[in-house]
Amino acid sequence: MRTVRIARPDDLDGFRRAARGLIAAGAEPETVSWQEEGESALPFGDPLPGGAAAPPLSVPKRFHALAEPVICHRDPERFALLYTALWRLGRGERSLLQDATNPLVRRLERMAGAVDRDEHRMTAFLRFRRIETDGAERFVAWFEPEHHILRRAAPFFIGRFAAMRWSILTPDGSLHWDGGALEISPGMRREDAPDEDALEATWGRYYAATFNPARANPAMMQSEMPKRYWRNLPEAALIPELLDGAAARTRAMIAATAEAPRKAIPAPELHGPGPAGTLAGVASEIAACRRCPLHGPATQPVPGEGPADAPVVFVGEQPGDQEDLAGRVFVGPAGQLFNRALAEAGIDRARIYVTNAVKHFKYEVRGKRRIHQKPNSGEVEACRWWVERELGLIRPRLAVALGATAARALSGHAGPLSGLRGRPLRFRDDLPGLVTIHPSYLLRLPDEAAREAEHRRFVAELRQAAALVPEIRCG
Ligand code: URA
Repeated sequence: MRTVRIARPDDLDGFRRAARGLIAAGAEPETVSWQEEGESALPFGDPLPGGAAAPPLSVPKRFHALAEPVICHRDPERFALLYTALWRLGRGERSLLQDATNPLVRRLERMAGAVDRDEHRMTAFLRFRRIETDGAERFVAWFEPEHHILRRAAPFFIGRFAAMRWSILTPDGSLHWDGGALEISPGMRREDAPDEDALEATWGRYYAATFNPARANPAMMQSEMPKRYWRNLPEAALIPELLDGAAARTRAMIAATAEAPRKAIPAPELHGPGPAGTLAGVASEIAACRRCPLHGPATQPVPGEGPADAPVVFVGEQPGDQEDLAGRVFVGPAGQLFNRALAEAGIDRARIYVTNAVKHFKYEVRGKRRIHQKPNSGEVEACRWWVERELGLIRPRLAVALGATAARALSGHAGPLSGLRGRPLRFRDDLPGLVTIHPSYLLRLPDEAAREAEHRRFVAELRQAAALVPEIRCG
């Protein structure tokens, strides 16, 4: 039996080096014991001896897309499972990963999904508290991830809070950003994170004001945001009270919506110019938008996200249910699929700007559920104002329309996607563009083989975007 030590729990490169060496040596999976050092035991050590000189393995891209999240799972068997998959891929089971019924593949897929969900929760439920050290402002958050997602989640927080100084403390490790460089230090205890915050009361008022009673579903709230996260959320104390009043507020909301027909008001007339020339300014103007009635039932508008100088802008349709609640683009199921496809295409989400053709969630209430409704051409046209403001500020070299609504907003033409997909074209104002599908299309395809084929085509079209603008590639 050979023992392989992995220095850091999420060390994919170390795993790859070791696996290459083991495969070259013909080590069968049953003869290898994988041992994981704790993050704090060997925080930055060289992970593995040997293996580096072994020839690279030729493995399907799907393996890389799976291994990247799976390595962050807390299951100590993850290295052995990945190595078994690698071994079998190299021993004549080339299409192993396409067999969704295979127990090993199913387990790896479930692990990848759990890691993606954990990362989503971290980005959605982490709350910074403001502290002052040596007269300087710093934002500190405590979070207890289920898996080893700290490094994986770091680019999101850097992209989102680039100009702030912040620290994210977790039991496994901590991230510190000073506005220019990221430092990673060992884990901390909960007591190290500040509890009190001047912003907390303000945040609580905001949360209460935007709490959507039509959406109140305690069971679902708990499955989305397990109770263990609640104690770190300033708004959690408000939830029981808000739930008590939810039914009455729903009735009041429905009555108010029926009584108050809305009139579209052009944004500039309503609130004048926002802080000029910034995406944050556009976001605050969108928050006051009354150009169409969709702002009424929505929880909040969802502005775009990404660097202000992103060379590529991806445009979706409109926020979904989860985006409406979180106030962030593509964080729900379609977003997770989108993230996975971007990773498979080798695109770094932190280098692109992602937004929607329509900024508010349009839905119909059925029972306790809010069912997505496609925005009509008037709504798309009203919101085009904002997409053009975003494009005008970012001035990307390429725009990618995800689906027909985005293609309509960017090109002005309604019609089927089939003739437009995957070929370079020009949108309005001569902006170079590509059209591909919306990721939620893949979620709706009932047939697995068709879904797999469409997924591959989607990834190939995303790769085209990366080929046109290589700066968005990972690494
Ligand atoms: N679908 C979209 O088009 N945008 C989102 O943000 C989420 C789902």
